[in-house]
Amino acid sequence: MRPKILSSIRAFVARNESLVLGASNSIVARVRFFDDIVKSSIDDGLEQLVILGAGYDTRAYRIEGLDKTQVFEIDHPATQKIKIKKIMEIFKSQPGHVTYIPLDLEIDKFGQKFLETDYDSSKKTLFIMEGLLMYIAPETVDKILSFIVYNSGSGSSILFDYIPLSVVEGTSEFQAGQNWQKCVTEVGEPFKFGISEGSTESFLTQRGFRMTRNMTSEDYKKSYFQGKNKNREVNKLSLFAHAVVG
Ligand SMILES: C[S@@+](CC[C@H](N)C(=O)[O-])C[C@H]1O[C@@H](n2cnc3c(N)ncnc32)[C@H](O)[C@@H]1O
Repeated sequence: MRPKILSSIRAFVARNESLVLGASNSIVARVRFFDDIVKSSIDDGLEQLVILGAGYDTRAYRIEGLDKTQVFEIDHPATQKIKIKKIMEIFKSQPGHVTYIPLDLEIDKFGQKFLETDYDSSKKTLFIMEGLLMYIAPETVDKILSFIVYNSGSGSSILFDYIPLSVVEGTSEFQAGQNWQKCVTEVGEPFKFGISEGSTESFLTQRGFRMTRNMTSEDYKKSYFQGKNKNREVNKLSLFAHAVVG
């Protein structure tokens, strides 16, 4: 990587860490946890993978077994255009197992547009929403979850990360929570969605899901940072969950 790019990434990470201690380590743990769930889902007969707000997610291109699974990458048109350009540079053509769907989840009729693609609502599907839900209005989150409940095959599930509602509302008891909320608002991407502390399971049950995993920062620190990494700081306000439809 070019030295100039590297030094601006380092400066970005250092600024993030000064505002939200452990932010980078929590992202490392998040990627690992999501990868682990994707791999176990493949072993359990996954038929389709849908990645909402895919950004530069590389799972479709690097996880063994996904090359035989239909993957749908949904993202904001502007972001997806840049990604497809990069994919073309690397692979020279678009991988056949990946369908790119440009849409704005807040504006476009997500369900209607998605059903017009080759998505099969009778197949067992994993829906990933990584680094996404906090930037989406609660009503849109509800619409997405309802679509999944009514339009996915038996054994389908969701995998997402989330933040406590107090961070969204700017009332977090932690300085990191206050800093985080202020920072995203200043850059014009304010938090919109969070889940009240201690109510993740009931939030999911009310929307037609059965929670199978809820990873607090202590949980993922214990799972993923051991040995010489055991003293790494993690962001206690970044949480992950997996839930099955029904
Ligand atoms: C923080 S990035 C996360 C990207 C990727 N999932 C990851 O974890 O690396 C948020 C992603 O959500 C997408 N996004 C945010 N709001 C969106 C919307 N209303 N409709 C579609 N995509 C959206 C952005 O374009 C971006 O790719």
